[in-house]
Amino acid sequence: MPRLVIDPITRIGGHLRIEAAIANGAVGDAWSSGTMFRGMELILRGRDPRDGWQFAQRICGLCGTVHALASVRAVENALAINVPKNARLLRNILLGTQYVQDHVVHFYQLSALDWVDVMAALDADPEATSVLARSMSDWPRSTSTYFKSVRDRLRTFVDSGQLGPFANGYWGHSAYTLPPSLDLLIMAHYLEALDWQRRFMRVHTILGGKSPHPQTFLVGGMALVPEWGGPTRPQSGEHPQQVDRRSPQALSDAGLADIGDLIAEAKRFVEQVYVPDASALIAAYPDWAGIGTGIGNYLSYGEFPEDDSTGPPLLLPRGRIMGRDLTKVETVDQAGVAETVAHSYYTYAPAEDSALKPPWEQGTTQPRYAGPRPPVTTLEGAERYSWLKAPRYLDDRMEVGPLARVLVAYSSGRGDVAAKVDLAGARLGIGREALFGTLGRILARAVEAQVLVDRLDGWLDELIANLATGDLAVADITRWDPGAWPAEAKGVSMGEAPRGAVGHWLRIADRTLSDYQIVDASTWNGSPRDARGRRGALEEALVGTPVVDPARPLEILRVVHSVDPCTACAVHAYRPGDPGSIAVRVITGGPR
Ligand code: NI
Ligand code: CA
Repeated sequence: MPRLVIDPITRIGGHLRIEAAIANGAVGDAWSSGTMFRGMELILRGRDPRDGWQFAQRICGLCGTVHALASVRAVENALAINVPKNARLLRNILLGTQYVQDHVVHFYQLSALDWVDVMAALDADPEATSVLARSMSDWPRSTSTYFKSVRDRLRTFVDSGQLGPFANGYWGHSAYTLPPSLDLLIMAHYLEALDWQRRFMRVHTILGGKSPHPQTFLVGGMALVPEWGGPTRPQSGEHPQQVDRRSPQALSDAGLADIGDLIAEAKRFVEQVYVPDASALIAAYPDWAGIGTGIGNYLSYGEFPEDDSTGPPLLLPRGRIMGRDLTKVETVDQAGVAETVAHSYYTYAPAEDSALKPPWEQGTTQPRYAGPRPPVTTLEGAERYSWLKAPRYLDDRMEVGPLARVLVAYSSGRGDVAAKVDLAGARLGIGREALFGTLGRILARAVEAQVLVDRLDGWLDELIANLATGDLAVADITRWDPGAWPAEAKGVSMGEAPRGAVGHWLRIADRTLSDYQIVDASTWNGSPRDARGRRGALEEALVGTPVVDPARPLEILRVVHSVDPCTACAVHAYRPGDPGSIAVRVITGGPR
């Protein structure tokens, strides 16, 4: 079968190469390869456990909040620390904000252009677009004047010949089948989403000092000072005008009011722009319901603690679903997770490479590049082909991400999630089987964004009410002194990034991190084959995907983007010419 190579896959986080064998106009087999080794787990070794999150956060510019929190929680787990209520709520608000922003950005900036033809939008009628938009929601910008201005802006951009983010698209591909008015509508919101997400991330700058990579996480809670019950006062020697220019103190009337306003704006954007657009797109591509389905096993660690114990209840529950059977949710425990490096550029020497090893028992991450030597045109025939390890749960392959979380919540009897899924399905005229593929992943993000934008408001109310009772505690620092720590300890955290389950496993010895293992969401989804030769989740999802024009494999991008890989997180030093870093190219397969 001719091999198609797409490297790098763009509009994702990190460096991912996809190879696909094409037969009879469809993907017959697929290989997912993480092409960059970063060694984050090695960088964390020897560090003060209280500093670990600052390093872990740099795994990614998209998922930084997630890894910071995962690291802090794993250290708290090792040292038996329970964080105060205010800290739990602040963490939920920071992470929930990340989810809502991430899902919107994923829809518009990372995946819409797989479905929306920018060039076709140039031919759209602004009046028809306005009529369509008004039929979908009450968003106040939906006038024909507005859509004409957007169309003119796009035309100027295209006529200038400097296409920027729209260069190299597969415009005019026969798989683009939206009416031009919907193309223009979603492109208008593509541009609006860029502005909106920048404003919304001010929640992170208020609560965390900066975005990306908020700086107020702390082992034991949050490094924020409540300034409750009084106006923002000048500090000594500060001119009143300087006070005006200062950002509001995070935990003050002004800071929390700003956050409330940003959440209210996000709720309007999600309900009046993102969800209607995602629904219209899904409804317009019914033939895609059964494409990209994959293995059908779904894993969620769960996220957003709703009380002040360390375990459940969680807003998004923990569990797994096997073989698309939504009648049963199996329990999930960290002990079920193990990884193999049988087809990865690592060794477990002296143990067997084919062994499934639990993260706490892996010892060091031992990189050993064993792929083809450059110039590399294809990984065909390479036994080892990725910097990603292959995680398995009780030796089962699992898909993680918004779809997994929504299905686990649905099957766990989470009424609000189930109602939103059923309502969306009924409106779109799609059955449950449509949930399991490419469209289901798009729908799951829209459902989850709605659930979270509502809950963000609730967490903020709870935080304000709790501060008003006089409980100003933001951190438990009674375990801050390393002299009081046990000589050896181990900790784990199981949480969720927007793109799926994230686990951090660590050991502390002599008051430093002696081992650190991260099993990221995209390691699950982008996994290479395991010791038994079984494909990873994305590889499996690609099999059967139609490819009408191998020179322009738009359909492959649809499936890959629906999984939203972040290979930066999944692989966790790039040297040009390093054999592990394969040159950027697209090869369309001819016969071998
Ligand atoms: Ni990431
Ligand atoms: Ca890892």
